[in-house]
Amino acid sequence: MRESSPAMAPGRNDPCWCGSGQKYKKCHLEQDRAGRTEAPPQRARARRAESVRGNPHLIKTPAQIEGIRRAGAVTRDILDLIEARIGPGATTDEIDRWVYETTLARGGYPSPLHYKGFPKSVCTSVNEVVCHGIPGARVLVEGDIINVDVTTTLDGFIGDASRTYLIGRVSEQARRLVEVTRECLYLGIDQVRPGGYVGDIGEAIQRHAEAHGYSVVRDFVGHGTGIEFHEEPQIPHFGRRGTGHPLLPGMVFTIEPMINAGDWRIRILPDRWTAVTADGSLSAQFEHTLAVTENGVDILTK
Ligand code: MF3
Ligand code: CO
Ligand code: CO
Repeated sequence: MRESSPAMAPGRNDPCWCGSGQKYKKCHLEQDRAGRTEAPPQRARARRAESVRGNPHLIKTPAQIEGIRRAGAVTRDILDLIEARIGPGATTDEIDRWVYETTLARGGYPSPLHYKGFPKSVCTSVNEVVCHGIPGARVLVEGDIINVDVTTTLDGFIGDASRTYLIGRVSEQARRLVEVTRECLYLGIDQVRPGGYVGDIGEAIQRHAEAHGYSVVRDFVGHGTGIEFHEEPQIPHFGRRGTGHPLLPGMVFTIEPMINAGDWRIRILPDRWTAVTADGSLSAQFEHTLAVTENGVDILTK
């Protein structure tokens, strides 16, 4: 049996080892011959079998993906509501209240609340805060940028997304950073297709960010999600094409690049949550939850 003879590559008309469901000749045959994939097919195939065994939630069923999409729609609606209300004079605690009340009114639960001891319903990360900012009395002022990261649990499914908002008129540098970070997210999403690798996403994002003189945060990454808040695999926003976990239909994960105007290094404040840029430079972030489909990608928080 082919599965039990791991030294053998698939035949031309056999299903590709990557799990895409396509014939080997239509999928990885050429790349393998050119030596462009990270590992011989038998290694990648063994690795896929291993990661499916080690992670029962790696491949979602169509019904699970529809559940995640319903959670994702609540997340998206909340991000829209924040976009309509946010502005100079709002406090991050007010944003937390909007998220808490809207999530409950929709029949959901705000996933961050009490997650590993996180005290609020949402993360609010202003200016040099990279992520995991805790809502409080801080008043937003004209010129701030703020990432609001909303995660909703609905009927046991999870949708995770974030946007960076501009408060009033902001500096040209801040506006540009936010725009490039949004582009990084969508360039990463463009890489998602069965037969690809997690490293394809990271390389596309890193290339774009660095071309603009920005840096990619290393200490926080995207992640599998949908059933648990944070599942395997990790999705770094840097790396090399053709490396990392193979992308398989039914995988659900986030892409959430954090891009710094200066150096990529971060430090954690004494509250043990708030991550800030080590050099005090601005940081922006956008996030979507998405599914790998038979022929590409499906954004579940759109
Ligand atoms: N939503 C964040 C993410 O994108 C995680 C926040 S964890 C919390 O992965 F505890 F800070 F809420
Ligand atoms: Co996330
Ligand atoms: Co998030």
